[in-house]
Amino acid sequence: MKQTIDLVIFGGTGDLAQRKLLPSLWRLYNAGQLDKVRRIIALGRSANDSQAYRTRICEQISGASESDRFLEKLEYLGLDATQTADFEALATLLNTPAPAEQTVFYLATAPALYGAICENLRGSGVLANNARVVLEKPIGNDLASCQEINQRVLAVFSERDVFRIDHYLGKETVQNLLALRFGNSLFDPVWNSHHVDNIQITVAESIGVEGRGDFYAQTGALRDMVQNHILQVLCLVAMEPPASLEADTIRDEKLKVLRALTPITADNAKKNTVRGQYDDGAINGQPVRGFLEEGGFAEATNTETFVALRAGVHNWRWINVPIYLRTGKRLAERYSEIVVEFKKHPFSLFADDQNHTPNKLVINIQPEESITLHTVIKKPGLSRGIKLEPVELTLTADADKKQHYEAYERLLLDVFAGDQTLFMRGDEVEAAWRWIDGIIQAWQDVDLGVKTYPAGTMGPAAAQALTERDGRSWYD
Ligand code: BG6
Repeated sequence: MKQTIDLVIFGGTGDLAQRKLLPSLWRLYNAGQLDKVRRIIALGRSANDSQAYRTRICEQISGASESDRFLEKLEYLGLDATQTADFEALATLLNTPAPAEQTVFYLATAPALYGAICENLRGSGVLANNARVVLEKPIGNDLASCQEINQRVLAVFSERDVFRIDHYLGKETVQNLLALRFGNSLFDPVWNSHHVDNIQITVAESIGVEGRGDFYAQTGALRDMVQNHILQVLCLVAMEPPASLEADTIRDEKLKVLRALTPITADNAKKNTVRGQYDDGAINGQPVRGFLEEGGFAEATNTETFVALRAGVHNWRWINVPIYLRTGKRLAERYSEIVVEFKKHPFSLFADDQNHTPNKLVINIQPEESITLHTVIKKPGLSRGIKLEPVELTLTADADKKQHYEAYERLLLDVFAGDQTLFMRGDEVEAAWRWIDGIIQAWQDVDLGVKTYPAGTMGPAAAQALTERDGRSWYD
């Protein structure tokens, strides 16, 4: 196949490039999916040459060896993204021997650099060729910084060439939500406030903040996970059926959900939100340190490593349905899951009916990818009367048809193909920040501090109280 794409990675020596992007590219290459990519040009500030960089990447990718042909595609160029003059060397490289048909600029740097990088790219003349830009999250730290990034990027690229990544949209089960909801006739009639009692979205991590203490101290779980991953998942759960699978049609529907999120304000923040921070504890029987010690903080900080919210979507379909969201670091185990809990049927026919929980649809995003409908049937046998027994109906592809891939593999292929369906449009990201900024403001107004929780648990006790106050409980 003709080689037509140059992929340029800003932040080529950074954590994301080394842990996620290059291993994903390597797997795509081995699966024969990277034929169109002529070169992968990694940019970084450190002095490296291409050979040293290849060796470094090879060591990072488990299973890779020095003789892998994939490594031949890799080149390294030292570049300081704030130095306009450095972009001349990049332009020369991209034009040698001739420009590729398509150049993809992947910005995996601090978001504060996105505007300057785009402006420097324009100044260097390299955008005369077909170009796309990929922006990693976070897009800013609040609405104002996000708007500034969007404006500066869109002054250089048109929206159809901007790919804002939220890697949760690249996960198989997250995309499966579209197939489940709109490829079956069974679910839509009950997918509303008449039949759904509550929705829960949990993204639990067992890792701590690792080496990112400083970044995390300024970010916190609300900005790091809810603003993007959790709200994107919520959009796919709550949105109206789109008129087509066109990227913008889907994104229009997601935007409506984000705009309909019930504001969390100073009046209700204490009731509807819980902030937590992990303390010493144990994960899988191993002792782990609390956030302050792990992050190297001399004094207490008010950073939340856990957040639980009682959210809502204020529209015709979802009015009065609580949507419980929670995420945290150093929780008991790593899993991400959506639970749609249906209302109990209105009349009990069976003596042991009350012992059984209402129907639930449990959508596991990771580590397992599965969709399970919790129902009851008759307990088999000759005993008198009808006794109920829980059964789980599993809606999962046959094991031999399952293909495991990393979210980044899927998303990189979509960028190369120019398909924006699984990427966030600028107005979506801004709408998400608007809601998040309101929560942060409310926290400041009521001075809501963090409650500590031992590492290895599911967050502070107040998170349990958040659902129990409503007569519900988290599905754990
Ligand atoms: C990132 C967050 O966006 O997502 C990290 O910045 C988090 O803090 C990560 O650990 C979780 O991703 P995944 O795919 O491992 O669930």
